[in-house]
Amino acid sequence: MTLSIRPIDPVSRPFFGGIASGIDITKPLTREQAAEIEKGMDQYGVMVFNDQPFTDEEQMAFSRNFGELELATNNLRDSKEQRLGAHIADISNLDANNNVLARENRRRLFSLGTRLWHSDSSFKVVPAKYSLLSARVIPSKGGNTEFADMRAAYDSLDDETKAECEGLICEHSQLYSRAQIGFGDFTDEERKIFAPVQQRLVRRHPSTGRKSLYLASHAGAILGWPVPEARAFLRDLVEHATQRKYVYSHQWKKFDLVVWDNQATMHRSRPFDATEPRDMHRTTVAGLASTMAQAA
Ligand code: OGA
Ligand code: MN
Repeated sequence: MTLSIRPIDPVSRPFFGGIASGIDITKPLTREQAAEIEKGMDQYGVMVFNDQPFTDEEQMAFSRNFGELELATNNLRDSKEQRLGAHIADISNLDANNNVLARENRRRLFSLGTRLWHSDSSFKVVPAKYSLLSARVIPSKGGNTEFADMRAAYDSLDDETKAECEGLICEHSQLYSRAQIGFGDFTDEERKIFAPVQQRLVRRHPSTGRKSLYLASHAGAILGWPVPEARAFLRDLVEHATQRKYVYSHQWKKFDLVVWDNQATMHRSRPFDATEPRDMHRTTVAGLASTMAQAA
């Protein structure tokens, strides 16, 4: 069989969310296959691959077709607790012994920040390109991941709002996103690590050239704007960008791999029974430049 990529929902979302078939991505790819997947990503922003029983090594090898991997160091885990390797972000509710974390566990509470719309690593100077999330253990219900098309969100703004957004620079930090869920229990060292970085509000995709809104719950300020005005403005934009018509909600099956382009989408997790294990492994392909370095 050969690789084929189709829209997940050709009727209501023909240009956002693709499903791949006819390919085993746990095995090495040809350059042509990798290029076809990248083309699919440029078109659909999010791609689903079913039935890919990855090991971490295989997931890393697949991910490296698209660039260098980010180090998974932004969580609060101390190294003793770390369950997975340095390039695998632990998107689970499990401790080092694979037990479900207690309700009050600090890492669990911090990770509830993923329930807010965001783009991965927007708080890094050079933010992420792709995230690749592999479902190893899923809860019996709930726990969907939702994706919003930030290109469509940009395109559908009125001209006045587009003009207002153009050239604006936001500050992104995990301190802002966690403050929104009332998590403020940071050490001085963490506050230093989470110092805000600047990103353009309107970004241009490095390969397609398409513009999109670069929003995330990590964005907490706009340079030159009073903070309450900036937050109210950003909140309105997030509300616009996450209308259901721009959103694909992924209902996970074991061994799904979902790849999203952080340069053109936002995503968030949905709730599930916190006493059940949910074990997802994420690799993250680093971007090549800060959005500040791109032409306006
Ligand atoms: C992530 C993320 C959402 C989820 O892996 O970056 O936000 O549903 N995950 O686990
Ligand atoms: Mn995320």
